[in-house]
Amino acid sequence: MAVTVITIDGPSGSGKGTIARRVADALGYHLLDSGALYRLTAISAVKRGVAFDDVEGLAAVAHDLDVEFASNEDGDERIWLDGIDVTHDVRKETTGTNASKVAAIPEVRSALIDRQRAFQRAPGLVADGRDMGTQVFTSAPLKIFLTASAEERARRRHKQLKDKGMDVSLAALSRDIEVRDQRDSERSVAPLKPAEDARILDSSGKSIEAVTQTVLDWVAEL
Ligand code: C5P
Repeated sequence: MAVTVITIDGPSGSGKGTIARRVADALGYHLLDSGALYRLTAISAVKRGVAFDDVEGLAAVAHDLDVEFASNEDGDERIWLDGIDVTHDVRKETTGTNASKVAAIPEVRSALIDRQRAFQRAPGLVADGRDMGTQVFTSAPLKIFLTASAEERARRRHKQLKDKGMDVSLAALSRDIEVRDQRDSERSVAPLKPAEDARILDSSGKSIEAVTQTVLDWVAEL
């Protein structure tokens, strides 16, 4: 049976994670948060004392990730690494910055490819990240590149972190996001850019519901 894949790529804070989750829930599809795999690689490397310039060591960490995604009784997403709940660590801004450093290494990206493709299961998959449409699921019938203005992305990330009890200044966050997006866009391997056949969706000033509905309308056209 053919498994439909919908890819949602875009810069930090564009709302990919939230929209991908809503769309997956509405369609009853599986969800791949590919950024979490890069974040977990960074966390695992730090825990194991593997330096960020140790290419072979980082690729081995990525390949051997012992990770479990699950929900608790309240339906909250939890992430375990080596049997330890790292949900809070995964969302930290420092983890995002470290993830973007390890994600620029081609060997790390290759080590995570099969793991990402294994998420493609019936009835379908919504995959969010930076290169879902350009590298990982190149034949997906619907590829979306989700954007939003830089100010709005920083504001959203700020609110998201505050809601999780993490305290960061908006100005510092804006700078971090800018540096991270620049690194993600300029790297030689799988840079952040829309697939040639992607539909661009600007979420600035739009509600989560409206953006989700646009994606679902596009799915209905398939
Ligand atoms: O989306 P998220 O903020 O969790 O991603 C963290 C970092 O992981 C990004 O800044 C990017 O460098 C990297 N990433 C990537 N390719 C993906 C998903 C995330 O390079 N498909």
